[in-house]
Amino acid sequence: MVMAALALLHNPILRNSEVKIMAKRIALAFCLLAVVTVVAAAQAPSATRFSMGGNSNVTQEKKSLYTRLGGYDAIALVVDDFITRLATDKRFERFFAGFSTDSKKRLRQHILDQFCVAAGGPCVYMGRDMKTTHTGLGITEADWDAAAKHLIEALDKYKVPQAEKDELMAFVGTQKKDIVEK
Ligand code: HEM
Repeated sequence: MVMAALALLHNPILRNSEVKIMAKRIALAFCLLAVVTVVAAAQAPSATRFSMGGNSNVTQEKKSLYTRLGGYDAIALVVDDFITRLATDKRFERFFAGFSTDSKKRLRQHILDQFCVAAGGPCVYMGRDMKTTHTGLGITEADWDAAAKHLIEALDKYKVPQAEKDELMAFVGTQKKDIVEK
């Protein structure tokens, strides 16, 4: 269509004729259409997309870890179980002995908020940074491993899939350097 319009435009016999004016308009309309298409493509949202496998054309935005974990209540269940395991582990007695019920609740809330934020959830972490909180507690590599094991067991209890478990543990791992002292 555009080629035909251009051919008419360059035809010397049709100079200034109505056909030529019409051809000009057609060519102009196609140019405008091309510009609009390019601009629209450039402004399309660049969300992460993944294929639903095979030759399927179905695409979908990748959900946040927060959503994939099941949201706030699901994360809270895991954190509650994690805290219970920590608080009842004889190895950790020296850390949590003397903690009031309210102090345990505060710790629980801080960990929950921290995980929620890390997973992309609509929460705010109001606790202190990990270095400030843990410096002086003398947490060892073995303590760290035991705590990580408790968290994995809590995630397993609620059947959190491997991919989501790995993502949360990767976040927790980034804090190790600020928590472990020996
Ligand atoms: C699994 C990795 C860990 C995470 C994600 C974590 C996270 C946290 C958070 C968010 C707080 C609260 C910060 C605040 O009160 O402002 C905290 C406090 C605390 N953590 Fe950890 N922690 C981890 C490992 C450990 C380990 C291995 C121990 C010792 C066995 C430990 C002992 C404590 C204690 C005793 C407090 C309270 C400190 C205080 O209130 O003065 N944490 N932790």
